[in-house]
Amino acid sequence: MKTILITGISRGIGCALAHKFLDEGYFVIGTSQNGTIDYTHQNLNIFKLEITSTDSIETCVTNISSLIQNRNSKIDILINNIGTLEDDNETKVIVEKLRTTLEVNLIGTINFTEHTIPHLSNNAHIVNISSQAGSLQDIEVFEHSHAPLRYPAYKISKAALNMYTRTLALRLRHENTNITVSSVHPGWVRTDMGGADAPLTPEEAAAYIYELGISRPETGQFWFKGEKYPW
Ligand SMILES: NC(=O)c1ccc[n+]([C@@H]2O[C@H](COP(=O)([O-])OP(=O)(O)OC[C@H]3O[C@@H](n4cnc5c(N)ncnc54)[C@H](OP(=O)(O)O)[C@@H]3O)[C@@H](O)[C@H]2O)c1
Repeated sequence: MKTILITGISRGIGCALAHKFLDEGYFVIGTSQNGTIDYTHQNLNIFKLEITSTDSIETCVTNISSLIQNRNSKIDILINNIGTLEDDNETKVIVEKLRTTLEVNLIGTINFTEHTIPHLSNNAHIVNISSQAGSLQDIEVFEHSHAPLRYPAYKISKAALNMYTRTLALRLRHENTNITVSSVHPGWVRTDMGGADAPLTPEEAAAYIYELGISRPETGQFWFKGEKYPW
C-alpha cells in the first residue's frame, strides 16, 4: 500500500484529496491545526501541525517518522496543500499581511518539506499546491487575468513557492535522487478560500491533482489540468 502525506486535510481541497487517495487505496497521513478532523478511515492518520512553528513541524515529522517506520514504509507522495489568503480585498501590499502569508505559504511550506525529505522514498513526488495567481506571465495579461490588482501578498507567496519548486527539483536531481517536484494550480475552487462563486468543486480539483500526484511528470514544472502552465 502506497503512502501519501497531505498537509491541511481538515477542509477544502486537502479534505477532498484525502478522500480521493483513500478511495484509491492509499495509506493517508494528514495534518490539521488542532490535530483533529471530522472524518475517519482505517487507512487515515491525522497529526497536529501549525506550519509557522518549527517546534510544531519537528513534533509532527517525528510522529510521522515513527508511524512510517512501524509500517516499514516511506512517503511516496507529499502534497503541500496548506495555504492562506490574507489580503483578498487589498490592492496594496500590507506588510503584516505579507509577513503572515509568507510564513504559511512559503517559509512554513519549505520548512515542513525540508524536514520531510529524509522520509521520502527515492521515487517520491512532491506536489506544491500553488496558484495561477503566482504566475508572472498571467499578471501581465490584465484583461484576462483573474483579479488582476487584488491580493498581491498571496501572489508574491505563490510566485516564490514556484521558485522553490524549481530550485528543489534541480537540487534533488543533482543529489541523484529520483524525487520529482511539481507545482500545480488547482483551478478556482469552492472552498473557504475560493468562495461560493468558484466554478470547481474540491472533488473536481482533487481528481486531477490525484492524476498529477501518481504520475511521473518532468520535474520542476508548473501544471494545470495535465498541461504545463506558464510561470
Ligand atoms: N480555493 C481556490 O480557488 C484556490 C485557488 C488556487 C490555489 N489554491 C491553493 O490550494 C490550497 C488549498 O486551498 P483551499 O481553498 O482548500 O483553502 P482552505 O479551504 O482555506 O483550507 C486551508 C487549509 O490550510 C490549513 N492552514 C491554514 N493556515 C495554516 C497554518 N498556519 N498551519 C497549518 N495549517 C494551516 C487549514 O487548516 P485548518 O482547517 O486546520 O485551519 C486548511 O486545511 C492552498 O495552498 C491555496 O493557496 C486554492
